[in-house]
Amino acid sequence: MQKEGTYTLRSPEETAAFAHDFIAGLEAEQKNATTICLYGDLGSGKTTFVKAAAKALGIQEIVTSPTFVIEKIYDLDTKNFERLFHIDAYRLKEGSELLALGWNEIIANPQHIIFIEWPKYVADVLPTKRHNLTFTFVDEHTRRLNVT
Ligand SMILES: Nc1ncnc2c1ncn2[C@@H]1O[C@H](COP(=O)(O)OP(=O)(O)O)[C@@H](O)[C@H]1O
Ligand SMILES: [Mg+2]
Repeated sequence: MQKEGTYTLRSPEETAAFAHDFIAGLEAEQKNATTICLYGDLGSGKTTFVKAAAKALGIQEIVTSPTFVIEKIYDLDTKNFERLFHIDAYRLKEGSELLALGWNEIIANPQHIIFIEWPKYVADVLPTKRHNLTFTFVDEHTRRLNVT
């Protein structure tokens, strides 16, 4: 089950539960990394989602936002994935800055799952086949999430 559609998430806990379901239903790409792009303004819930998704993939350590390091890498022990990449492109100006991190190898490996916050700043190097998750602020407790 993939989760295309628009959802209303009424608390951080609902966003986390949605992330668990999303991972449970995710079909891994066979020839490339599985890439999940998280669009949305500051505070819209992107990191909340990634933390819960990482937990669903067995990562117990807290996933802090990688804003100051661009990229964080976690080893996984799941059926489909052996490594998780959490990228925050907020401070990047163009995709070529990711190439220096070995981006072409990262996105070519089917055993990789990649979460990218602020993907619009590196739009020129995103794989065409990817999951786009767009978070919108509704009110203090509520976010809208569109998944394509
Ligand atoms: N429904 C919701 N889903 C996710 N976060 C929410 C929700 N309602 C309120 N919040 C709050 O909004 C903030 C989201 O922060 P974060 O996930 O770091 O956003 P981003 O990574 O998009 O900047 C957190 O303080 C969280 O508690
Ligand atoms: Mg964030």
